[in-house]
Amino acid sequence: MCGIVGYVGPQSATKVVIDGLRRLEYRGYDSAGIATIQDGLITFRKRAGKLGILESELEQNPLLNTHTAIGHTRWATHGGPNDSNAHPHISADGKVAVIHNGIIENFTELKNELLKSGVDFQSETDTEVVAHLLSEAMNVKDAELADALRSVCKRLRGAFTLVVVHADHPDLVVGARRNSPLVVGLGTAENFLASDVAAFIEHTRTAIELGQDQVVELRADSVHVTDFDGNAAQTSQYEVTWDIQAAEKSGYDTFMLKEINEQPKAVADTLLGRIRDNHIVLDDLKFDLDVLKSIDKIIITACGTAYHAGLIAKYAIEHWTRIPCEVELASEFRYRDPVLNEKILIIAISQSGETMDTLMATRYAREQGSKVLAICNTQGSTIPRESDAVIYTHAGPEIAVASTKAFITQVITVYVFALFLAQVRGSSMDIEALVREVSDMSAKVDVVLDTIEPVKQLAEQFKDASSVLFIGRHVGFPVALEGALKLKELAYMHAEGFAAGELKHGPIALIEPGVPVIVIVPPAKDSVLHEKIVSNIQEVRARGAKTIIVAEENDDIVEQFADYLIRIPQCPTLLQPVVSVVPLQVFAAEMATVKGYDVDQPRNLAKSVTVE
Ligand code: F6R
Repeated sequence: MCGIVGYVGPQSATKVVIDGLRRLEYRGYDSAGIATIQDGLITFRKRAGKLGILESELEQNPLLNTHTAIGHTRWATHGGPNDSNAHPHISADGKVAVIHNGIIENFTELKNELLKSGVDFQSETDTEVVAHLLSEAMNVKDAELADALRSVCKRLRGAFTLVVVHADHPDLVVGARRNSPLVVGLGTAENFLASDVAAFIEHTRTAIELGQDQVVELRADSVHVTDFDGNAAQTSQYEVTWDIQAAEKSGYDTFMLKEINEQPKAVADTLLGRIRDNHIVLDDLKFDLDVLKSIDKIIITACGTAYHAGLIAKYAIEHWTRIPCEVELASEFRYRDPVLNEKILIIAISQSGETMDTLMATRYAREQGSKVLAICNTQGSTIPRESDAVIYTHAGPEIAVASTKAFITQVITVYVFALFLAQVRGSSMDIEALVREVSDMSAKVDVVLDTIEPVKQLAEQFKDASSVLFIGRHVGFPVALEGALKLKELAYMHAEGFAAGELKHGPIALIEPGVPVIVIVPPAKDSVLHEKIVSNIQEVRARGAKTIIVAEENDDIVEQFADYLIRIPQCPTLLQPVVSVVPLQVFAAEMATVKGYDVDQPRNLAKSVTVE
């Protein structure tokens, strides 16, 4: 949600910043802008629309070659996506340029104060108040930019990453963070600031994640981090383990297709080192095993696709561990006064580790005495740092806005954790057999991808459908929800996922001749579930629906009820989502392509949602 880049060093700062913004465009693409300092003056360009529009502007109207710059790609919150609301925002005296990710909750109060003192506002954004406040703070004799930013930050409420430059300090970039991410990239005689390491990975893999309420002063040869009171802060460096190819398309038309095809590897990487002699090993899990033995309830909290992974987790956790498990949308969690205590384990699932709704739910749960386990894909991000323990999914960087490989690895990770819990609590289940089944999943996803071609033709077939329905039972229900979410967000079509048994309680009224219904069929050997879904298929066919059936390769019962049949490998019911979701991901990506939409950057969305 908004991408931020800052650079100080010997290279062309404009080039470094624009290249960085290209890698951060997944975070928002409503507008883009850049500011540099030339001859003691802030010079900037900013344009509504995708980064390409700013690049064209820079071709026609280039910036001089400087060695300090900041840049921004925006996901609009306050004020529409137009040129004047684009960042950077400049102070009235033209000396300060500010870029921002997050929301300043008390901006109206601050804006009124500034208006009263005669400041003229150029935009409708909350960010602009910071530019003017900072300029005021810099007007004090001998003021230092970092001091000024610290004093301004103390007046702000909400979530913010701020990165600023000042015309009188051409070799300095200052950043601050509260609740939104900001990472420092440590180079040789050059340093970087960004919302995500992807922005500078081609220059350096050594990074420092800034902590809560910290300010960083970045010069070409130094990085100085303090808290908001100016006290030196402890930082720790880490090395980014993935390389530049992981953040590039590698020959695929879109990041999403690349990421879908990376799923077998993502599953294998997530399991790597966590299975030994058909047992689960979680050596780096920072939990006292007594805590895991004593919990009597689990609550999973997450948003969007990660929430769907949580819904699947509930089936696995309750079945394998017999611990009651609830799943709750993170955006609702803390507002309903949930019952929490030290016997309840919270699992927060998040690809980015920065989703504000999930972060706030996590903080709330810890305040109430519950322990929090994060399942996260992004090393060093805020949610794992603020949790009691973390299990990282090893999906690698996910650039496409629609989540695919992160989802599959979240599901794999909850299986791993649920089996670990069962092990720790002395379950009498045949854990070894289950672990073997989980280990086979990477190869099974590969099989689905090898036979995916016919799914692509389905998109052309149904591109004019006014609505697409997805139904499933048991873990097939969250898969139906996920299939519908993917289609909504990528192809802008009306799509709904239902528990198949619920159809008769209302949604079946939506069925009319020709409506495509995608059915996720449980394994044939799960005869009770299977029989039930066969009845549901007949109910929709009797009303004229076109059925697209996702079923196991040996399932010949459903064949006769299928207008279109998509085959997936056999696996136990609980593990089936790992294979059954793949055709739904491909269907949605293909539908977006057929309709001429941007697969990687769907409208109105951003990858990392750092506002509540
Ligand atoms: C949908 C999608 C979103 C995210 C949600 C949570 O394809 O990607 O629904 O799953 O915004 O994001 P994370 O997992 O980063 O917390």
